[in-house]
Amino acid sequence: MRTIIEPFKIKSIEPIHFNTREQRLKILSDAFYNPFLIRSDDVLIDLLTDSGTSAMSSNQWAGIMRGDESYAGSPSFFRFKDAVQDITGMPDVIPTHQGRAAEKILFSIMGGSGKYFVSNTLFDTTRANIEFTGAEGIDLLCDEGKHPSIPAPFKGNMDVPALKRFIEEKGAANIPLCIITITNNSGGGQPVSMKNIKEVRQVCTDHHIPLFIDACRFAENSYFIKIREEGYASKLVKEIAQEIFSYADGCTMSAKKDAFANIGGFLAMHSGALAQECRNLLVITEGFPTYGGLAGRDLEAIAIGLTEVVDENYLQYRIRSIEYLTNKLVDAGVPVMQPAGGHAVYLDAKNFLPHVPVDQYPGQALAGALYIEGGVRGVEIGSLMFGKYDDKHNLVPAALELVRLAIPRRVYTQSHIDYVAEIIIDVFNDRHSINGLKIIEESPILRHFTAKLAPM
Ligand SMILES: Cc1ncc(COP(=O)(O)O)c(C=O)c1O
Repeated sequence: MRTIIEPFKIKSIEPIHFNTREQRLKILSDAFYNPFLIRSDDVLIDLLTDSGTSAMSSNQWAGIMRGDESYAGSPSFFRFKDAVQDITGMPDVIPTHQGRAAEKILFSIMGGSGKYFVSNTLFDTTRANIEFTGAEGIDLLCDEGKHPSIPAPFKGNMDVPALKRFIEEKGAANIPLCIITITNNSGGGQPVSMKNIKEVRQVCTDHHIPLFIDACRFAENSYFIKIREEGYASKLVKEIAQEIFSYADGCTMSAKKDAFANIGGFLAMHSGALAQECRNLLVITEGFPTYGGLAGRDLEAIAIGLTEVVDENYLQYRIRSIEYLTNKLVDAGVPVMQPAGGHAVYLDAKNFLPHVPVDQYPGQALAGALYIEGGVRGVEIGSLMFGKYDDKHNLVPAALELVRLAIPRRVYTQSHIDYVAEIIIDVFNDRHSINGLKIIEESPILRHFTAKLAPM
């Protein structure tokens, strides 16, 4: 096949509501320059997130009808549990209403002040749930991952020597958990190699630190291993995923990503004792252990999604469509994270807008410009999301200033993607007209969701 085609036909459509540049200028200003505060009807191409935005298959919709809503012991739960176990090999499976609910339960049990959770890169909700317990989240990303424009096959890898040094410095007893995020969402959707996972496993074993996988995009990561890592080309993606999970003690998962579900998540693990503690919390926060925070129909959709996502025709199309957009931008000289990640294109806002200083949030300014130009909604992953203040209220910026354009699964066609490329290139050609922003209102936790900003 010379052209990799979308591996599906469209049965049901949702209209896009068109608006004008003038209207979008007002909409963005009314939304205080925060794309999260724009109504989705006012967005033409919504690349805010790939989370919960997938198009479900006809099979998943059939599963929705089959969903059994019994409070206890629903057959939908057992189908869900079998699907999770088939991939993870983990005996205890705990459904939650989404990924962060799984995180909240896990870290409420394992967290606490004086403790450190080490990771390649913690996602924002993961970090927030860790810090909410008084513990600290530590990102130990490999050096290649810190340079957006330098291509490398596994830029999501953890820095293993840094992990060893950190354990020596703080003591293994103060590190309740190591978490590998696959793919590394905050670091550009970049994959982690099997070699790196095995090395981290060894370090964890040597120091008796459990290893969990943040598994939201396990299938995309597995596909990257298949095409990029020696020795995996002839393996099935599902076998690669099973190997990844075989090195872990447990996992958290947002089923809103690689399970094509609109809602859902889970915790899975080998330790029955830890699972029991998790279930105790589940019952008071989410629900009975055979539904967690979900309806039976959601459990069905996830179970089916987990079997569909390891389809290699799908994954080839998925990874190729991200690469297609990335390549178009690279050819036009637009600074983007390279190589293409698994679920999103990441614009390097620091190099896109070198005239906007980090304390004027170049990523947020760029996200606003893309909306005004073409109604394309993306999200800043930079100092608005991850910046902190020092004692004197000066911004301690994030390592990278990125704009993430996350591609919902099975939703947009190639012409949508061509349109997005055109808009980005138009904005790039007119980049000198874009000004920075200042924050006028913010909340202490996960401020990027609700912050209000104004032009400088
Ligand atoms: C890597 C990663 N971990 C955890 C989460 C949290 O999942 P949820 O949005 O379902 O709470 C996300 C969501 O985007 C994510 O990308």
